[in-house]
Amino acid sequence: MKLLVTGGLGFIGSNFILDTLSRLPDYEIINIDAEIEGSTHSNLKDVKKNKKYKFVKGNITNQLLVDKLVSKVDLVLNFAAESHVDRSITSPKNFIKSNIMGVFTILESVRKHKKKIIQISTDEVFGSIMKGSATEEFAFNPSSPYSSSKASAELLVKSYVKTYGIEAIVTRCTNNFGPRQHLEKLIPRTILFAQNDQKIPIYGSGKAIRDWIYVQDHCNAILEIFEKGRWGESYNISANNEINNLTIVKKILKILGKPSDFFYHTEDRPGHDLRYSLDSSKIRKHLKWKTKFVFDDALEHTVNWYLSNRNLLKKANSKTLVPIPWKSGTRK
Ligand SMILES: NC(=O)c1ccc[n+]([C@@H]2O[C@H](COP(=O)([O-])OP(=O)(O)OC[C@H]3O[C@@H](n4cnc5c(N)ncnc54)[C@H](O)[C@@H]3O)[C@@H](O)[C@H]2O)c1
Repeated sequence: MKLLVTGGLGFIGSNFILDTLSRLPDYEIINIDAEIEGSTHSNLKDVKKNKKYKFVKGNITNQLLVDKLVSKVDLVLNFAAESHVDRSITSPKNFIKSNIMGVFTILESVRKHKKKIIQISTDEVFGSIMKGSATEEFAFNPSSPYSSSKASAELLVKSYVKTYGIEAIVTRCTNNFGPRQHLEKLIPRTILFAQNDQKIPIYGSGKAIRDWIYVQDHCNAILEIFEKGRWGESYNISANNEINNLTIVKKILKILGKPSDFFYHTEDRPGHDLRYSLDSSKIRKHLKWKTKFVFDDALEHTVNWYLSNRNLLKKANSKTLVPIPWKSGTRK
């Protein structure tokens, strides 16, 4: 089986590549990544010399390049995206290009070469849900330029299934955590600030609830889906592990031996969704998937991973430490 993984230098894509190559040695993977913020080659240093792995620097909006790569593989897994909600507030245009035009470009190649695609999407397409959980049939209600670009991409995929009969699956997952995540995201950022002896900035009250899943559980779900899932459908992936941001920060402070009040509140993110929640009974029932990792253990493992990769923490710069990026205007 030959896979084209897009955005494989990023957090989830790199974990997926490492996991797949170690568990399925017959698989070959081409990774196309534009090396924008969020990507790092050190994420994949362990497979650099693996003959089953090839890296191509490139943008998923480049039709000629994408066409060439898609023609060589059986399946495309589209992880590539501008992924940081805060940056989508300061610079939405890049999100429209990568997350919508990029998906359109890949879909055109998939259609031309009759290949399959898995579009990696997010619970954020459903917006804030105060009660209950969104099933696969819920209506989209995105709040940020990021989530609306991901919802748009999903709609494009759906239209290509209906209009051109391409074989596609959309997977929607909740908040991931684990090794190799960019330092600007909540968990690595909290570790970074604490290690720098700086108080942790918390958006608003810190009561925003996310359903946290360990990245390897997400990667396992994607493997199950492309081996056993039904083409043309979508699958929600969640760990049923809803926690608010303040609790996460306090858990990390405890692991690091810092005082439990080593944080301060900042102005909230505009349009900050209070709660995301996915109903993942479909994948659990039909594909017999379930999570393997316990949150507290996986969180401790993640903190220790960052501590043993201090070179990554050292790379953090003033931009990473800006507490309220949409106000400072310092981001790309
Ligand atoms: N992180 C989460 O909690 C989460 C949850 C659900 C879904 N997702 C989705 O999973 C995917 C991966 O997320 P992540 O957290 O690993 O993001 P990330 O920002 O860590 O990685 C994204 C990668 O995509 C690459 N990229 C971006 N635009 C590109 C383009 N136009 N051409 C080529 N490469 C490009 C970047 O260079 C980067 O390496 C995204 O599609 C995201 O929407 C993420």
